[in-house]
Amino acid sequence: MKVLSVFGTRPEAIKMAPVVKALTMQPNIQSVVCVTGQHRTMLDQVLAFFDIVPDYDLAVMGTNQTLNELLAKIISKIDAVLAEVQPDYVLVHGDTTTAMAASVACFHKQIAIGHVEAGLRTYDLVRPWPEEFNRRIIDVAATKLFAPTQRSADNLRTERLGGEIIITGNTVIDALKQTVERIGSDPLLEENLNAKFAFLNPTKRVLLVTGHRRESFGDGMLGICRALLELSRRNDLEIVYPVHLNPNVQEPVRDLLSKNSNIHLIEPQEYLAFVYLMNRVDIILTDSGGVQEEAPSLGKPVLVMRNVTERPEAIAAGVVRTVGTDTTTIVNGVTRLLDNPEYYASFARAMNPYGDGYASQRIVASLMNNVFEPFVEHKSGITAI
Ligand code: UD1
Ligand code: UDP
Repeated sequence: MKVLSVFGTRPEAIKMAPVVKALTMQPNIQSVVCVTGQHRTMLDQVLAFFDIVPDYDLAVMGTNQTLNELLAKIISKIDAVLAEVQPDYVLVHGDTTTAMAASVACFHKQIAIGHVEAGLRTYDLVRPWPEEFNRRIIDVAATKLFAPTQRSADNLRTERLGGEIIITGNTVIDALKQTVERIGSDPLLEENLNAKFAFLNPTKRVLLVTGHRRESFGDGMLGICRALLELSRRNDLEIVYPVHLNPNVQEPVRDLLSKNSNIHLIEPQEYLAFVYLMNRVDIILTDSGGVQEEAPSLGKPVLVMRNVTERPEAIAAGVVRTVGTDTTTIVNGVTRLLDNPEYYASFARAMNPYGDGYASQRIVASLMNNVFEPFVEHKSGITAI
């Protein structure tokens, strides 16, 4: 069987890397990888770390290009790859323009699509924008719907889509587990990481920030930056912020925050260093999908800078809270975690609502029509990394 994996951004690459590895280990599967290059630097960081050499690279990134330009480029360039590879299955991930474009191209060619991370929903078409729309289009077209959790599978059942629904757990937990094990088993690596972040004052608590949602550009980004400025006045706190390369993020963040000595603006980190950072800090403030899934496994409290999230499992478990992009709400949320130890402890409970580290194996088993046990949340109690 020939399986073509298509991805193009940082989070897709992190979450598809364990799947590609599992595909490669199957003698009956020929695994082919096509990256769109929707991201360049941030994608290449992940490819290097997971040792993936793509068979095709569509190199579509342009500085701040429009979604329509991006979509048109991917659809037209991927057509030739599909014609040449003639895959039995194309695997796409999540909700990016890369995943949506590849799915539309496959649908037009009547090629079977496997959607990794299917069924996440806010049921608000503009939050996250354009991802909620992308994800729904892919799910309509997919033959195999790899839902990470029971809730995402329930969404798909309610929508009465045509694809087969398989509950796998989220592959991000596979990637995280492999990375945590790598750091834990190599004292030299850990030493290097300690040295890399030696600028963090060990006597202060640390807030890790990431943010890049398109619906937050403009006023939302300003609200976030003002909150960070206010929080940076505390002398018991340091803020570390790897700034996403999107110019709509870079400009306001660098303009407003670069002169503050309590705020460390750093480059996007390679996955290993970012996992180390998540583990090292006290609180995470983010609008990222992947970070919301990873942090509970590491026992780190997360405040999500969105009004709604398509990942409600950790909120229901009481370890993640939404704070939107309003300055006061963010400041109050972080302050309460910093100043109320009991409240902090109630959030800092390690658990794995999103996966158990075997999602990729389940996906590959399903493609090969092999029998396997679906992922069951908290089946054997709460186990964390
Ligand atoms: C994309 C995805 C979003 C995902 C996010 C992860 C879409 C519509 N959005 O958003 O779902 O959560 O990636 O990060 O698919 N850039 C660089 N170098 C890089 C990466 C980005 O310079 O390595 C700059 C470029 O100017 C690029 C811009 O950032 O045009 C935006 O990138 P793009 O992929 O269009 O959207 P994101 O906002 O990153
Ligand atoms: N991440 C990383 N380096 C960073 C910031 C994030 O490797 O500097 C990882 C993070 O651990 C998670 C993924 O990137 O696995 C999330 O990517 P992003 O926030 O860009 O996208 P989203 O998850 O919101 O789609």
